Amino acid sequence: MARRFNLLLLLSFALAVSASSLILHEHRTNAPSGFANQGPTPANHMLTLRFGLASNNMAGLQEKLLAISTPGSPEFRKWLSPEEIKSFVSPSPATLTAFTAFLTSHNLKTSTISPFGDWHTLTLPVSKANTLFSATFTNYTHPALATPITRTLSLSLPSELSGHVEVVHPTTMFATTKSRLLAPPIPNFEDLDPRAASAPAECDATNPANGITPACLQALYNIPKTPATQKNNALMVTSYGEWAETADLQAFLTQFRPDLPPNQTFLTISLDNGTNPQEPGVGGTEADLDIEYAAGIASGVPLQFLSVGDFDLDLGIGFLDTATYLATTPNPPTVVSTSYGDVEEAFGESMARKICDGYAAATARGISLLFASGDGGVSGGHDDGQNCGLFVSVFPASCPWVTAVGSTIGFNPEVAINFTGGGFSSYFTQSSYQTTPVSTFLKTLPPSFPGTGKFNPAHRAFPDLALQGKNFFINLGGRVGRIGGTSASTPVAAGIVSLINDRLIEKGKPVLGFLNPFIYAHPGAFNDIVVGHNSGGRCPASSAAFDAAPGWDPLSSFPSVFGFNVDSLTC
Ligand SMILES: *[C@@H]1O[C@H](CO)[C@@H](O)[C@H](O)[C@H]1NC(C)=O
Ligand SMILES: *[C@@H]1O[C@H](CO)[C@@H](O)[C@H](O)[C@H]1NC(C)=O
Ligand SMILES: *[C@@H]1O[C@H](CO)[C@@H](O)[C@H](O)[C@H]1NC(C)=O
Ligand SMILES: *[C@@H]1O[C@H](CO)[C@@H](O)[C@H](O)[C@H]1NC(C)=O
Repeated sequence: MARRFNLLLLLSFALAVSASSLILHEHRTNAPSGFANQGPTPANHMLTLRFGLASNNMAGLQEKLLAISTPGSPEFRKWLSPEEIKSFVSPSPATLTAFTAFLTSHNLKTSTISPFGDWHTLTLPVSKANTLFSATFTNYTHPALATPITRTLSLSLPSELSGHVEVVHPTTMFATTKSRLLAPPIPNFEDLDPRAASAPAECDATNPANGITPACLQALYNIPKTPATQKNNALMVTSYGEWAETADLQAFLTQFRPDLPPNQTFLTISLDNGTNPQEPGVGGTEADLDIEYAAGIASGVPLQFLSVGDFDLDLGIGFLDTATYLATTPNPPTVVSTSYGDVEEAFGESMARKICDGYAAATARGISLLFASGDGGVSGGHDDGQNCGLFVSVFPASCPWVTAVGSTIGFNPEVAINFTGGGFSSYFTQSSYQTTPVSTFLKTLPPSFPGTGKFNPAHRAFPDLALQGKNFFINLGGRVGRIGGTSASTPVAAGIVSLINDRLIEKGKPVLGFLNPFIYAHPGAFNDIVVGHNSGGRCPASSAAFDAAPGWDPLSSFPSVFGFNVDSLTC
């Protein structure tokens, strides 16, 4: 009761103010489940807010990105330089003038400005932020968080900033690295089993479901074992708050890739003060899984581990800073694998859009960005049996400018696994590269389909690829066990893309870069997965969800599993 009453007050306040000069910009009715309101943040608490300014021509960048990534286009794979990208992303002079005038009139100064000039950072007391933006900054706690986070359910902008400021952050976004979906405890995590220490290095082809090894994946997808030769072709694994252990990686390779040098290492790159200590036992399940399968599949490809600072509190900033790094660093990797995400709603629309714009900028350079599609079927990232009636999408997988990777199980036949995340974004519209296969899929839904009305069929559909995602052997802290999820599928897909890039670079050709238009244009290069139902592993089998079908489907994608043939893809 009390909460509802407060909300009404807040709304009437926002409406009253908007009549003069404030316009409601972002609003949510309540915090996502799991977050508890601990009362107003003290007025004198200093808040650091980031302002995302409108780019001068994001539509132009998207159009250009489609032109350079669509097979047959005269500009195919003419990836852009950071300077060319900046010409689209940087704010217009009118936007900068409006923002500067606002700052000056309130005696405010920004402290940090992003390389493209579209993000500005401002530190101010909570009382001033509440007044300027008709906000109610409040402390929220979450069982997974050590300290409260400060958020507001509503934010207004002075009318003179309207159309110029797209995001103020953190305000209505609640995604945090500790409340995230794809990190431990991963629902499909199976306790590390000491008996698995005798796991075979070769694939147990009689029953591969007992455990997936690099050898199983190589056999299934025709992945070459010959090491890559190109040095300027790094595969990056990103990490938000976890560490990858070199000792675990080397033990993994010794056991599962005895044909490779056992001393493989990776370059750690730190963002936002991220670290990667190597004391025994501090390795994270997700980080070790990701680096081990990147190395185990992308034989000989240089590896990078991007450790983004363990600011438990803010996954949005982590994603944003990663996108900016990728779009601007002089020597970027060619492929990036990310097994983190949260439900779209946790980011809020304006922040999700701005982060997705950042990925468009990064992939326009020719960097392939692969993201796990989530482990909750049509009910988001959670495989917890909650929300079984709702269709919820996972971000960043739902961004049209990244490649979303789902999961399959079994060899013969290989089928979509029931937890694999997939469906239709609530925020992002559908890009031309997928409209035909998606409309073909939609025609397979019977008139009585129980999910009708629970998703927007005109929106971005995902995933774009799918491959094995259960019972992967990993080495964690010197012990061997099995783990699964779309988190496992993603570094494998990324490793395959890196190997193709290696062959392309060797032939003097441009790398694959933004993958989706190419993937959807080459169904023949992939095996189609036609069986499966993505209710979410712990939802009742009868709950509304999608079924796999011939061609693209929201479980395993149109061209689902790589029927991997490097030569056919490099020609
Ligand atoms: C609210 O959060 C601020 C900033 O983290 C902190 O200084 C303050 O002690 C918190 N207050 C309560 C009541 O949790
Ligand atoms: C691995 O060992 C080989 C052979 O001793 C050596 O040539 C190579 O430089 C080592 N690589 C790394 C990354 O340490
Ligand atoms: C990184 O560390 C420096 C020095 O301790 C500190 O000033 C800065 O705020 C930190 N940055 C982040 C993003 O945590
Ligand atoms: C999903 O598959 C697992 C076996 O992999 C099974 O135990 C579970 O019952 C399935 N869930 C549904 C909803 O079919």
